[in-house]
Amino acid sequence: MLHVDGLSKSFGGVPAVRDVTLTITHGETRAIIGPNGAGKSTLFNLITGHLPPDAGTVTLDTTRLDRLPPHRRAARGIAIVFQAARIFRHMTVRENVMVGAHLRTRAGFLPAALRLPAHFRAERDIRAHAEEALDRVGLTPWADADAASLPLGQQRAMQVARAVCAQPRLLLLDEPASGLRAPERDHLARVIEDLKDTGVTTMLVEHDVAFVSRLADQVTVIDLGQVIAQGTPREIRADPKVVNAYLGAEGSPTP
Ligand SMILES: Nc1ncnc2c1ncn2[C@@H]1O[C@H](COP(=O)(O)OP(=O)(O)OP(=O)(O)O)[C@@H](O)[C@H]1O
Ligand SMILES: [Mg+2]
Repeated sequence: MLHVDGLSKSFGGVPAVRDVTLTITHGETRAIIGPNGAGKSTLFNLITGHLPPDAGTVTLDTTRLDRLPPHRRAARGIAIVFQAARIFRHMTVRENVMVGAHLRTRAGFLPAALRLPAHFRAERDIRAHAEEALDRVGLTPWADADAASLPLGQQRAMQVARAVCAQPRLLLLDEPASGLRAPERDHLARVIEDLKDTGVTTMLVEHDVAFVSRLADQVTVIDLGQVIAQGTPREIRADPKVVNAYLGAEGSPTP
């Protein structure tokens, strides 16, 4: 589904992503793990178009994406939940979720300004997708609450709902479980499993090895901007290169 080939990105001459090649198949859940500063978020930003690559290509199915701006990639079905929480304060949970669909809607500024029927149709569709997304992450009872009033676990769920509202085929989640308590993590894992059941392909950056092992079909390990290993969660946990670079002697990531 997604093929990334020879992708590289430096910041001020310092490489963050170096010659990364990987292929994600339809319907899989792929975890991307690696130490802090390894280049995981940069790789995601290169896939979504929020950063331009220095070299390399990004292909979704048969379409080259690497020259398209983020909203054009979103229109082709790529959605991201960023590592840093982005919440629109003084807006309800439902309004925060609806922002996701506006990122890829075809109805432009003109129909909205002129209040044409196409605008109202698009708004009605977005509202319906938002209700569905809220339901899928279990936030329907809080749809009218002030988004900033939610506890962290529900704020994360809201961000997943925002991405889901855009009806993605490929969903990128950058550390969605960080800072969450065990029950919140478990809820989020179930949401991701449910998305997989409906055919959404997911790429997941996460440090929690148990969370990754539960969800991922394949794990790609990145260190210093390069892919150093790939395999099933079981293979990765047993790989000496990974243990040295990342997991440490006790099998848990260093903070
Ligand atoms: N906009 C930027 N400008 C300059 N340097 C950056 C920028 N974004 C990332 N970097 C650098 O690129 C490297 C990779 O950063 P990146 O955020 O991709 O790592 P990461 O694997 O996501 O780390 P973490 O686990 O801490 O989120 C780091 O050395 C970081 O300091
Ligand atoms: Mg990151």
